[in-house]
Amino acid sequence: MRVRMTQSKDIQRMRELEQYLEQCNYQYYVENNPTISDFEFDALLRELQDLEAKYPDEADPNSPTRRVGSDLTSEFESVEHRYAMQSLANTYSSEELGEWIDRITREVSDVEFVCELKFDGTAISLCYENGVLQRAVTRGDGKRGDDVTNNVRTIGSVPMKLRGEGYPAVFEIRGEIYMPYASFDRLNREREAAGEAPMANPRNAAAGTLKQQSSQVVARRGLDCTLYHIAGDNLPFATHIENLEAASTWGFKVSEHMKVCRSRQEIEAFIAYWDTERKNLPFATDGIVIKVNSYAQQRTLGSTAKAPRWAVAYKFQAERALTRLVSVDFQVGRTGAITPVANLEPVQLAGTVVKRASIHNADQIAALDIRLGDMVYVEKGGEIIPKITEVELSERPADSKPFEYITHCPECGSELVRYEGEAKHFCPNSSECKPQIIGRIVHFVSRKAMDIEGLGGETIELLWENGMLKDIADIYDLNPQQLAALPRLGDKSAANILDGVRASKSVPFERVLFALGIRFVGETTAKYIATHFRTLDAIAAATVEELSEAEEVGSKIAVAITEYFADEHNRSIVERLKSAGLKFEIEEKQRSSNALEGKSVVISGKFVGRSRDDMKALVEEHGGRNLAAVSANVDFIVAGENMGPAKRQKAEKLGVTILNEEEFMALIEGTPAVEQVSIPEPQPTKEETKPIQGTLF
Ligand code: IVH
Repeated sequence: MRVRMTQSKDIQRMRELEQYLEQCNYQYYVENNPTISDFEFDALLRELQDLEAKYPDEADPNSPTRRVGSDLTSEFESVEHRYAMQSLANTYSSEELGEWIDRITREVSDVEFVCELKFDGTAISLCYENGVLQRAVTRGDGKRGDDVTNNVRTIGSVPMKLRGEGYPAVFEIRGEIYMPYASFDRLNREREAAGEAPMANPRNAAAGTLKQQSSQVVARRGLDCTLYHIAGDNLPFATHIENLEAASTWGFKVSEHMKVCRSRQEIEAFIAYWDTERKNLPFATDGIVIKVNSYAQQRTLGSTAKAPRWAVAYKFQAERALTRLVSVDFQVGRTGAITPVANLEPVQLAGTVVKRASIHNADQIAALDIRLGDMVYVEKGGEIIPKITEVELSERPADSKPFEYITHCPECGSELVRYEGEAKHFCPNSSECKPQIIGRIVHFVSRKAMDIEGLGGETIELLWENGMLKDIADIYDLNPQQLAALPRLGDKSAANILDGVRASKSVPFERVLFALGIRFVGETTAKYIATHFRTLDAIAAATVEELSEAEEVGSKIAVAITEYFADEHNRSIVERLKSAGLKFEIEEKQRSSNALEGKSVVISGKFVGRSRDDMKALVEEHGGRNLAAVSANVDFIVAGENMGPAKRQKAEKLGVTILNEEEFMALIEGTPAVEQVSIPEPQPTKEETKPIQGTLF
């Protein structure tokens, strides 16, 4: 009786938490008006996660806990769209736009147009039934797309349950998933720190992220979603704008920058305004979409096989400039990757003077047939540095010759190599090539790695030139006399550096692992690997298969790690760092209880409320030991969903106890839950809806 009472109280609490946390999400992501602190939010979310782990059958697939993602891999099943997802006719010319407007005005009378931003991301269709998100599907070929629901659930601004009233029982709403510049810049900083090529632009980054296998990765990338089209049989209003306004009251993020226009002049004014003003938006746009407002008129106008006749996209001319290519430099990164950089005759482009542009690799030089002395077009899209997009062949000098790509490293002279599947050339001389060594040391001491103050790029180069710093381990052999004797470096700076070096010995293991600069092992990946394996020795000894078992580690990363440790030079550096006293083990958390004292546990399969690594951490927190394989030494197995049948058979044969997640949690019960944070009294909901129209002019 008592058990049942707690259970019903728990379930009631789950429902309260779900509702309240969703309200917080909405305030944060859609209204841009957070109502509680991140700390309180995290504590409540954790409480809900714990309850969901305890009552997995009661967990809502649209629970706010889904927003942080899970390690369930998304399968991207192909599904048919209920309403085909058409594309848009587009034009770059205002003359063509004028013709389109004339044609519409001839075919339907008293027409109203709606002008809106063209978001530069990737299209998505969201299906709702009775106010609950059922499915999120990519455009695919327009008829069928990929089901990416688990990933889309992590996007804070996509409502999983609708608010307000008046929405049809079944409908689809479409929009664009995009990566705001702030998220894009952060992602690229992380990629560069991990030695990976940066993403070319926010559009590619958004599309790539949406197809990630792990929704946890998606959750962290900071995508956003604005909706711009509703499809359904029982829509409440007869016009596009009214339905979108209604959608905004149902909790969707709808653009604030839409305007009803009644003439070509008004449309052109809207375009002209946004052609400059869009540069102040926090996300990328590539044009303006003009739609006929009335559904009845849309039906009269109909569609071609590809696109509706009632809408058109006016695309902004990407900003480009014509200038001469003077020379090409080749930069060598810390991983040895060679990046060609074009030196240009300075030219004005989108408000800045451009002197350099990126050309990604040899293939691109060949594809565009870029030659020294050519007049080339440079463009600035969402990219960080401008790029060369085309050669003006009519201005090619008569004596020009095809560009010959370098065959040897411009820094150390080693012959360059090309690895399979890599577009770039690499200098293989990692232990002696100067920019690679300096780059690795700069990375090692950087803020998110060992954070050694006082050791900047210039000092590192100075030390290298004086033979005092040949690799990262040499940092721990630096002595005050040597340092103080160097030109430009007095006693004070020397002492400062050595203090920083000393302090770095207490940097936690996951950051040491990141600092090593193993290819593709960024800050977050390092954290996952450190948590999974606990010690550097365990990582160094792991096979590709074992490494791939850690969260977020795919085969590319796993191979890079094994290659790193297969290299004798790297192993000796690691040994020297170890002797210097760096942390090569994860710090054990304080024990929560001794419930599993002396017990060996295997965690297997997938769990509802926690990731596998969280489960393993729980085992250790409660005094137990994690083992990877089932053997007679194992005290019990905690089996999640889909534990392999072979493992189960083996356990049964050996007589090892199998517990499910709930039984395991009961066993360690008494673990202090996250302190209960109270849910504030419900806030009065805003009666009025956000104005959509007329915010602009
Ligand atoms: S309406 C049937 N409105 O542009 C009409 N599309 O180039 C469906 N897009 O596939 C599209 N912003 O991914 C519409 N305000 C907007 C848009 C928009 C961006 C994208 C969308 C579409 C593509 C066509």
